[in-house]
Amino acid sequence: MLDVQTTQAAAPAPTRREDYRPPEWLVPSIDLDFDLGAERTLVRSRLTVERNGAEGAPLRLDGENLTLLDVRVNGAPADYALDGDMLIVEGVNSGDSVETTVAIQPAANTQLMGLYASGGILCTQCEAEGFRRITFFPDRPDVLSRYTVRMSADKALYPVLLANGDPVGSGDLEGGRHYAEWNDPYPKPCYLFALVAGDLQANRDRFVTQSGRTVDLGIWVRPEDLPKTHHAMAALKASMAWDEKVYGREYDLDVFNIVAVSDFNFGAMENKGLNIFNSRYILADPDTATDADYDAVAGVVAHEYFHNWSGNRVTCRDWFQLSLKEGFTVFRDQQFSADQGSAAVKRIEDVRALRAIQFPEDAGPLAHPIRPESYIEISNFYTATIYDKGAEIIRMMHTMLGGEGFRRGTDLYFERHDGEAATCEDFVKAMEDANGVDLSRFRLWYAQAGTPRITASLRHDDAAGRAHLTLEQAVPPTPGQDSKQPMPVPLKVALFGDLTGEKYADRLIVLEGVAQEVIFDGIGERPILSINRDFSAPVIVEADRSAGDLAFLSANDDNPFARYEAMQQLMLDTLLGAIRNGAADSGPVTEAVRRTLSDPNLDPAFIAEAVLMPSEAFIGDQMEMVDPNAIHIAREALRADLGADLERLWRDLYAATTANRFEYSPAAKGARRLRTVALSYLMAGGAEDAAALARQQFDAADNMTDRQGALGVLVNSDAPEREAALAAFYDRYRGNALVIDKWFSVQALSTRPDTGAVVKALADHPDFTLSNPNRLRALIGGFAANQCALHVADGSGYRFLADMILAVDKLNPQTAARLVPPLGRWRRFDADRADKMKAELSRILAADDLSKDVFEQVSKSLG
Ligand code: PHE
Ligand code: ZN
Repeated sequence: MLDVQTTQAAAPAPTRREDYRPPEWLVPSIDLDFDLGAERTLVRSRLTVERNGAEGAPLRLDGENLTLLDVRVNGAPADYALDGDMLIVEGVNSGDSVETTVAIQPAANTQLMGLYASGGILCTQCEAEGFRRITFFPDRPDVLSRYTVRMSADKALYPVLLANGDPVGSGDLEGGRHYAEWNDPYPKPCYLFALVAGDLQANRDRFVTQSGRTVDLGIWVRPEDLPKTHHAMAALKASMAWDEKVYGREYDLDVFNIVAVSDFNFGAMENKGLNIFNSRYILADPDTATDADYDAVAGVVAHEYFHNWSGNRVTCRDWFQLSLKEGFTVFRDQQFSADQGSAAVKRIEDVRALRAIQFPEDAGPLAHPIRPESYIEISNFYTATIYDKGAEIIRMMHTMLGGEGFRRGTDLYFERHDGEAATCEDFVKAMEDANGVDLSRFRLWYAQAGTPRITASLRHDDAAGRAHLTLEQAVPPTPGQDSKQPMPVPLKVALFGDLTGEKYADRLIVLEGVAQEVIFDGIGERPILSINRDFSAPVIVEADRSAGDLAFLSANDDNPFARYEAMQQLMLDTLLGAIRNGAADSGPVTEAVRRTLSDPNLDPAFIAEAVLMPSEAFIGDQMEMVDPNAIHIAREALRADLGADLERLWRDLYAATTANRFEYSPAAKGARRLRTVALSYLMAGGAEDAAALARQQFDAADNMTDRQGALGVLVNSDAPEREAALAAFYDRYRGNALVIDKWFSVQALSTRPDTGAVVKALADHPDFTLSNPNRLRALIGGFAANQCALHVADGSGYRFLADMILAVDKLNPQTAARLVPPLGRWRRFDADRADKMKAELSRILAADDLSKDVFEQVSKSLG
């Protein structure tokens, strides 16, 4: 191991939940005046302040990277001091007006937090703590203010000027400049502030709310992208109608604008009345976006729109409550998407994502409860745990209270806390009070990290016609939490007769303690256990079911999720057996897949999900010590067997799912999905014409789903068609950033042994840049998620990833920090790999000027 000493002068101090105190000062209103320019922007801000804490305490305002030009109180030069980044103003009284003038440099802002430039557009990102990079302000979510905004800018460069709320004035100024004024009547925390200036055009539409108000909708993009905004607009209108119907929530301003930008750290942002999106979640047309992209656009548009109530009207008291808005809003967008198409497929996709990202997070050094106790940098807590496990915890309440009870709870929550900054506790309390239930123990889900393990064993007493189901739970230790208490776990359970296939029981069992026995009477044959149906709880279930029982469930369970799950378990058991013993009998999997493929009653989209093999990373996650090569070999061998043994069926399905022309409908999407899955199995099975079929699909495709699907199959192969398709893809889409991202990521995700070298070479490609988060995620994020490629035994993958983290950290710490977690999984690898991973983490930690973001992730990962 390298001997690296930490040169970090002083580790940045954590912020703790228990230290929360109400703000010393409130800011009922703020007037902002922006003199906009990419090189230099002047920001004049006038706060009306009100004392909320101890008499005599000075006014303390957060700031970061601001050039302070002037401070006044009630118009007169003020008595102030700078304490680090903080501006301290003395002698301020309630009702005073505090004015500051600062200069900022949007074009030099590579962190993409605060006011920055993206392809000629000026835009803002303030969540979580970006507003302090725009002006001095108490940058915390429990300070709510009314905002007025005036912007002036060069009219030719920035013909469109947008901000939160409603437009109230605009006009021309001298020197080719113009101005616009916006007014947001709803008090909001500063993280929801936004402005945009640019040469944009809008796809405009209208929505009439349930009470008959007309809302003007605009989706603003660069003029050439206008034709790609229709899907997002349809999704927006569907979301607005859905939130009225399902949650009784109506939109509250006269305008709702969305702007798409190319450089964005996350997916999108719910700024009040002015959502700002990563363009990948707005732009879609058949030639450039896959069906998955279309679904993601609709899901993210819905998510941000839903935040208007779950996040904006009711916001968070402090950042420890982040899951209050994110978990709930993810749950809402999941429900919305389920209602738009196949609920079963949506659930499968969501659980797949949870297991791929959140389960490893919850089992590793960065594990944290959905309501964390402390953080060094809050940006590191926009995690799968806060979002996706958070959504599962909301979903469990929905499951236990039923749809109507849950709605009573959300109605009460919105009624009680409208206009306030609330806590997770407030949400649970509203659920309790509206339903007369006690959720005291359920609250542990907010406080304890780690994925619970449920052991289920079923015993049948033939003579008594009785089945005994014994359930036990264990919540594993996680950093800072050595011992855990049992939590209520809602498990949907059914029993099926082994001989008759009859369903004997179908109920919701809430496992309350460490162990519980449940008795089922009237069971005259050996029962087969179907458990955690619909994935009713975010847990790992160990049920010890035979291959025969899993095959039975995969063919006969009436719960589609449980059917999928049984197949996954069967595949997993087979793969783990093969890894342990060097070989396994693929017969039961082949038979189960054959039955699924031949079942005429199944939706093709469901079939495509059900027959997909668990990912290499997920298989690794089931192993005490991950052996990436053995996993890869076992998985490829099983895929080859399935491909060869079922070749006729794959061919028939491939032919049957070939469409004449593109259509965007659930049925057509399902057909396309199954088509590429069939193609990939034909390829895996070694069909001689597979590469030719793929090339044909690639050339003939009239949509990106088929084209990218074919490319994804070819890119794993040695076929000569591979290079040709990659080159053709690049030539066709050169200059289209979102599609070139796909070209990078498809290569980074390849299972070929040369992927590490290819990725390194691509990092020198003229189209690669560290400064665009989408491009970085496509290549480096893809590589980091590619288990085989990252974990090559010589450690070169780790070194490359660490080099990238260090380089990106200089530009964009948030994005750099998000590349760290794969290196933190060292405890799960052999000693040689683990040492190499730790050496790279130590090398990062020793670097000069490391950001807080990367420092936190790396130091916790070293543990
Ligand atoms: N609040 C945004 C969302 O979920 C995510 C986000 C966080 C975006 C921080 C930008 C910065 O919906
Ligand atoms: Zn969100």
